[in-house]
Amino acid sequence: MEPDLHATSISVVANRPSTSPSPETPAENQPSIKTTTNEFLASLFDDLKHHRLSLPTLPDLALKAQQTVINTDATATALAKTVSADPALSSRVVRMANSVLLRGRPPVASVQTMIARMGIDPLRNLTACLAMAQVWRQHASPLIDDQLKSVWTHTTRVAALCGVIARKFTRLEPDQAMLAGLIHDIGALPILTQAAKVPELVVNKAAMNRIVERLHPAVGRIVLQGWQFPEELVKVVTEHEDLEYDSDSGPDLVDVVILANLHSYIGTTAHRCNINWDFVPAFGKLGLTPQASIAAVIDARDELAELRNLLTS
Ligand SMILES: [Fe+2]
Ligand SMILES: [Fe+2]
Repeated sequence: MEPDLHATSISVVANRPSTSPSPETPAENQPSIKTTTNEFLASLFDDLKHHRLSLPTLPDLALKAQQTVINTDATATALAKTVSADPALSSRVVRMANSVLLRGRPPVASVQTMIARMGIDPLRNLTACLAMAQVWRQHASPLIDDQLKSVWTHTTRVAALCGVIARKFTRLEPDQAMLAGLIHDIGALPILTQAAKVPELVVNKAAMNRIVERLHPAVGRIVLQGWQFPEELVKVVTEHEDLEYDSDSGPDLVDVVILANLHSYIGTTAHRCNINWDFVPAFGKLGLTPQASIAAVIDARDELAELRNLLTS
């Protein structure tokens, strides 16, 4: 698959308002690190263009979950079998199905009753959610451990927010919204892994973070397309940093992730805290004002803690 970098070239992404973490000090303005950064970016683009960049692979579990989207009953049965055969996994999936995420549905005691009552979609999405943690663990590297942990912490916070926001304010499936939160910054993973090979970047986290900020939507799109994830999730990865995003249709997963990202920065030192939410169309799409949205998230504090616990325990 030829990577299409045209739509999200560096300059386009860099000029947009963004919700990603960013360093306070523009350290790459220093001559040496600027050169290193530019060389790294050039080589990253070259690697992408020639399919040389090492992209994260989908764990077997997520692969089976993903195949149920494309395929039919056979893969659904295979997924149910795989999850059921693993007591730890099936108990986590069932706990998620009985959590606040899918509140209002009768509780289920097993994967089988879950499928019988809810169909295959929640099992597929929740299994994929749990598999995402494996993807991040696979790329553990002591050189960039802090950055990986930081993105994963942010990711789980956004995922929990997505689940709660989708359930309260949209007709979208909360389990799919949580999955959208879990994959929205996946592009950071291969970039950080590649940057870990450059000693000057390893010691300059500010420069590394800015590279991630600029490129993660474009790289994330390539990752998700490689995984054959559905188009609505590819769109999340590609569009979530565009705070002016305003689709023609009703609220979609991109709107939910934009809101979740903004909420995730409250109480942090991220400079995104200073963005004026009044001009972000996603709030209106969900029938919210920024103030009402903050009140709702504060109100959902316990639910958010429960979901994050399920994702990280
Ligand atoms: Fe994010
Ligand atoms: Fe992002």
